[in-house]
Amino acid sequence: MPTVVITAVSRGLGRAMSMGFAEAGCTVIGCSRSAAELAELQTAVGKPHRFDVVDVAVDTDVADWSQEILSLYPAPDILVNNAAVINANASLWEISAEQFDRLTTVNINGTANAIRHFVPAMIDQRSGVIVNFSSGWGRSVSAQVAPYCASKWAVEGLTQALAEELPAGMAAVPLNPGVINTRMLQSCFGSGAEIYASASEWAK
Ligand SMILES: NC(=O)c1ccc[n+]([C@@H]2O[C@H](COP(=O)([O-])OP(=O)(O)OC[C@H]3O[C@@H](n4cnc5c(N)ncnc54)[C@H](OP(=O)(O)O)[C@@H]3O)[C@@H](O)[C@H]2O)c1
Repeated sequence: MPTVVITAVSRGLGRAMSMGFAEAGCTVIGCSRSAAELAELQTAVGKPHRFDVVDVAVDTDVADWSQEILSLYPAPDILVNNAAVINANASLWEISAEQFDRLTTVNINGTANAIRHFVPAMIDQRSGVIVNFSSGWGRSVSAQVAPYCASKWAVEGLTQALAEELPAGMAAVPLNPGVINTRMLQSCFGSGAEIYASASEWAK
């Protein structure tokens, strides 16, 4: 059964995908920053699945994590770059340089970091799919979320260029998951998020 590496599995879409892939018989490898939530997920799905505390924004931490994972598991059949953060609703000029840098470092650099450290092993086996989570806001825009829009437009471009670099037998796709009631959606839609599907409904 496929081995699936997913970034950002402590809650939201990443956690729901982890549960769904595990139930489907895949081996799921995941990361996030919150140790308690990862321990709870590990208890829920058991072995051979594995979840580690890793901040995808830190290239050296992703390098160490991938080295450990690739010494224990086969190269991933599917790499899901799901990790992202959104800015608190604000106009672009109100967002500090530190907040802007942190968002782009997680959403863009974090995606590139996981690609840098997992894709060479996938290329060695000349198979696999890289799924980079984009957004409707990677193809359109709204006020108050300019840094997030910029990061998801970047993910779209990065992924299309990556797809041209991969050997035959591999693929890279940017995925817009739709609109799902997670903490991220609640940040930008407030109570308006309640009308949308839950992450577990979406994952099916
Ligand atoms: N929900 C929607 O409607 C929607 C729509 C379009 C696109 N998306 C995209 O779907 C993906 C998942 O979003 P979501 O709605 O599930 O968001 P969410 O509920 O806010 O969850 C975000 C996840 O990212 C993790 N994370 C954040 N920074 C990280 C870092 N530096 N390193 C590792 N993990 C990190 C968080 O865990 P920790 O805090 O524990 O690290 C958490 O597990 C994102 O790429 C988002 O842009 C969502």
